Amino acid sequence: MTAEIIDGKAFAARIRGEVAGQVAALRRDHGIVPGLAVVLVGEDPASQVYVRNKHKQTVEAGMESFEHRLPVETSEEELLALVARLNADPAVHGILVQLPLPAQIDADKVIAAIDPAKDVDGFHISNVGLLATGQKALVPCTPLGCLMMLRDRLGSLSGREAVVIGRSNIVGKPMAQLLLRDSCTVTVAHSRTRDLAEVVRRAEIVVAAVGRPGMVTGDWIRPGATVIDVGINRIEDAETGKTRLVGDCDFESCAAVAGAITPVPGGVGPMTIACLLANTLTATCRAAG
Ligand code: GUN
Repeated sequence: MTAEIIDGKAFAARIRGEVAGQVAALRRDHGIVPGLAVVLVGEDPASQVYVRNKHKQTVEAGMESFEHRLPVETSEEELLALVARLNADPAVHGILVQLPLPAQIDADKVIAAIDPAKDVDGFHISNVGLLATGQKALVPCTPLGCLMMLRDRLGSLSGREAVVIGRSNIVGKPMAQLLLRDSCTVTVAHSRTRDLAEVVRRAEIVVAAVGRPGMVTGDWIRPGATVIDVGINRIEDAETGKTRLVGDCDFESCAAVAGAITPVPGGVGPMTIACLLANTLTATCRAAG
């Protein structure tokens, strides 16, 4: 079998187009312009790329983009003061503090300080709890994008065997909650899971979010399964010496067995920012009542 390649780039462009249409209507009919504030502390190169892309796509969707770049030596108090200002600013409907943060700042404390109604990352424990109890929440963008691709490919997910590899707060745990909400039978596997290959082989849906390049190989994949690769790993090509991006799945061998698979790059990545824009629109509409 040769898998269908799920085109996250095209899917994300479609979502951004829909968001832009709704943003235009909100402006025309109610005079409201959604505003997204993104805070970057320090100069982590990967984070800088993300933040630049977020800014560009926010503006393209017709939203207001507020960028706050702070020096790497910024104190926790200074960052908390900025978050408090953004919480109080009526032009700001969504707040995202880019992770990771420098060592002197406690990320949990910063996330806890964000107004849950503006928490477009869905990381605040209030949103985490709402999602876990099946209530209306702002949902983390990466797993939300994965869920959209799965629903688009498979239709109803009800009763399907899903294995999520990775238990991070950003991807693994919320992904498991979303799949459970869609009535999947969910297994969360991780670095201590015994017989990992055997566990993954049960899955009709595999979501790999471990940050280990090429860890999942084709012999782990149930024939026809849908494979969502969240990994974005920079590796150096032994032949050319150039760095390139690879996922957590060994693409060639997995694509030979799976029914469908997301590529890296061009799969989950573009969906994350599209979902961030969708979350910002959601937060704006809820704030407007
Ligand atoms: N760093 C890597 N992914 C993310 C994300 O989804 N949100 C935030 N705030 N930081 C990140």
